[in-house]
Amino acid sequence: MLLECCIFGMITFLMTGARCEVTEVFAEAGSEAILPCKYDPTSLVPPAVKWSKANKGTVWRKQRSGLQYWGSSWTVNGTPRVKCPHSLFEKGDYGLQINNVNEEDGGVYSCSVEAGGREVENVVYLRIMTVSIDPPVPIWGKDVSVTCNVTPWPNGASVQWLLNNRPFVPQTRITSYRDTSKSIVREKATVSLKGKWTCVVGFKGKEEHVSATLSVKGIIQPPNDNTKVYAAVGSGVTLPCVFSPGLTPNLPVWKKAGSLFKPAPGHPPLSYSSSSQLPWDKSASLKEVGFKDEGRYTCSGTIQGQILTRTIQLVVAKIESSITSKKKGSMALTCQLSDTSEVTNYEWVHVTYDLNGTQSVESVQKGKILNISQESEANRGEWVCRFSGKEGILGNVTYHVQLMSGVSGQKVTDVSHNTATVVGLSFLLLVLLLILAQMYKNHQRRKRIFQYPALETIVHTISNEREERERSRVKT
Ligand SMILES: *[C@@H]1O[C@H](CO)[C@@H](O)[C@H](O)[C@H]1NC(C)=O
Ligand SMILES: *[C@@H]1O[C@H](CO)[C@@H](O)[C@H](O)[C@H]1NC(C)=O
Repeated sequence: MLLECCIFGMITFLMTGARCEVTEVFAEAGSEAILPCKYDPTSLVPPAVKWSKANKGTVWRKQRSGLQYWGSSWTVNGTPRVKCPHSLFEKGDYGLQINNVNEEDGGVYSCSVEAGGREVENVVYLRIMTVSIDPPVPIWGKDVSVTCNVTPWPNGASVQWLLNNRPFVPQTRITSYRDTSKSIVREKATVSLKGKWTCVVGFKGKEEHVSATLSVKGIIQPPNDNTKVYAAVGSGVTLPCVFSPGLTPNLPVWKKAGSLFKPAPGHPPLSYSSSSQLPWDKSASLKEVGFKDEGRYTCSGTIQGQILTRTIQLVVAKIESSITSKKKGSMALTCQLSDTSEVTNYEWVHVTYDLNGTQSVESVQKGKILNISQESEANRGEWVCRFSGKEGILGNVTYHVQLMSGVSGQKVTDVSHNTATVVGLSFLLLVLLLILAQMYKNHQRRKRIFQYPALETIVHTISNEREERERSRVKT
């Protein structure tokens, strides 16, 4: 075609003095294409201009009088898709603008400018580039093909693929069909294929780019495996597992460290989060995290026969307090995490509340261990260990310092009070016992004394009886 045109052009040039130029224009489907047509105005008479497409007839033409005509197939709802901007005519620019190009617009165009018996013809090859993805949004693990199409295909062109602006190294295979004007990449859809796919077509020393974005359906939250979730001991936590909207996984299941996670009766350790009613949200929640709950959890579900999984690591934080023996009342608080691989920084924050309940936060020191005195009134309240990584704060864990200051002194006095009471009480008891013993003694003695009067009476009565007997004997 090109050769034909040039031969044709050469002949016309030789015969009429017309020139033939061939221009290549690449345009992405859906964009606006500009087909150049330059003419060096030699006379002041406005030229007659005609744009036509091979096998499709006239696209647009302008008579010397200025009247314009559009080809019937180049108007959409009465509005022409093509135009030559009037303002540029003076400069001899009769470039044709085509809006919203599609693959069918690709082909050979010619622009002929005729003035003063001279005719200039420009030939333009319009090549429409597309990158198409099939299926448009593939499911993770399923086949996806990315196709670079140029219509008409430039013979001898080279094709390169860029993924997120870096040369793409195919894991499986790239199929290139030169004859069907396509370069195809076929892969299994994974996260690593997500992003901007750019087809770079090299032709006649120039590079043309066209891009499309590939997204993969599957578990969108968290986006990567081994995502760490931080929680403080005793707090509640949600382990995220959200599928792409519209995907409802079959047989969703949560596992911990390889074993099926079955909720124990009475103590369900892991349950689907009830806050979300969306069928694609399979996040799980733990009501109260214990230090032993740390570890790896796997969320999985089946979509169209494909098992999708996501691993989430629960990192549990706690504060351990220990009494440092050196100084009385001093205490060391240690911020402990079940996994510290992402932690770069620890910060201790003191949270206090005034009488109105207004919270005030004060950063005190950096570092894993905090030494504070329990006896100082100023140290009571909440001590928060904030831990952060490269991307900011990861989480925090709180320790409540009891009213040790006032209490510790009071406690001592309490103890002395108590000992005093105990001593006093035992003394009282002793005295009571002594009194009791004395009373018993007295009682015993009195008992003995009473015995004698009894004897006396007996003796007395006996003697009385004898006396009476003797008296009666004297009488008789
Ligand atoms: C408590 O609130 C009142 C009024 O809202 C204010 O005047 C007072 O200063 C506040 N007290 C403290 C300790 O912040
Ligand atoms: C601790 O974390 C909770 C929840 O992320 C947050 O609301 C709170 O402000 C944090 N506390 C401090 C002192 O950073």
